[in-house]
Amino acid sequence: MPTAASTFAEDTDNLYFFITALDTLFFVLIMGAMGYFMWKYRRRSKDQKTSSITHSGVIEFLWSAIPTVLLLVVFIWGECDFVRQSVAPADPLEVRVTGQKWYWTVEYPKYPGVSLNSSTEEPALTLMVPKGKPVRLTMTSTDVIHSFFVPAFRVKRDVVPGRYTQIWFEATRIGEFNLFCTEYCGDFHSNMTGVVKVLEPDDFERELIKAGVLTQEEGESMAAYGERIYKRRGCVACHSVDGADGTGPSWQGLYGRTESLSDGTTVKAEDQYIKDSIYEPNKQVVAGYAPQMPSYQGQLDNEQVTAVIEYIKTLK
Ligand code: CUA
Repeated sequence: MPTAASTFAEDTDNLYFFITALDTLFFVLIMGAMGYFMWKYRRRSKDQKTSSITHSGVIEFLWSAIPTVLLLVVFIWGECDFVRQSVAPADPLEVRVTGQKWYWTVEYPKYPGVSLNSSTEEPALTLMVPKGKPVRLTMTSTDVIHSFFVPAFRVKRDVVPGRYTQIWFEATRIGEFNLFCTEYCGDFHSNMTGVVKVLEPDDFERELIKAGVLTQEEGESMAAYGERIYKRRGCVACHSVDGADGTGPSWQGLYGRTESLSDGTTVKAEDQYIKDSIYEPNKQVVAGYAPQMPSYQGQLDNEQVTAVIEYIKTLK
């Protein structure tokens, strides 16, 4: 079993063990009885005839009634767990989760400006939650169906475009736990992982703001700030900086390059084009790539876009 780190883990595991034990018991009983009867009633001579068999009302009743009762136990137990896991307690910490190819974005309505992103680069810190407090995730997708899964919490739910789905949990252990997308969502589905960090309630707010607010640090160059944005805001999921081909064009040598677009025209990749591509990505798509980049309008401000451009300039 994976580490147990939420209040659901024990319930889920207990039911799982109960079903497994039940299955094992019946497997042994049924296979054992079958083997025994095969041996006991084997044919003893070539001209032996099968004796006439009548039915037994008692046995037929029992083999229907006992499994019915056991199945009802499993059903009611599972239903109770399901209802408990579906309805969050009053006043949970609200978190909004957005899935898109191929990373997660996490925002906290209570803490404006805080945004965490998983991406293929470290740190893949995706979700921070306090220990011992109920947390409710409201999730949606901007493109295809993803699925949010934290094995240590025993929570999993599909993340569907055009719809909100919810899960809640209460973490019981301090630490870092893996998060996975468990719905095949395209080329880099297997990269769509992340880390959930559980903190002491006293540290939570301070650590969250430290990790989740993206601003230029004192003495940091524009380009270095741009690189942090590149890693933190998901650009890294599709654009390489070493020339390797990805879902989108590599940023290596991009600045000043003449790009052929899918509509047959060309454009020089300078500040204006790069900025337009960030805010309205599907207007001028480079030939050979699918128009599938999400708009960063409202997600990156002017200064952050400038920082990204400065970073791109350094990628010769
Ligand atoms: Cu998202 Cu698989």
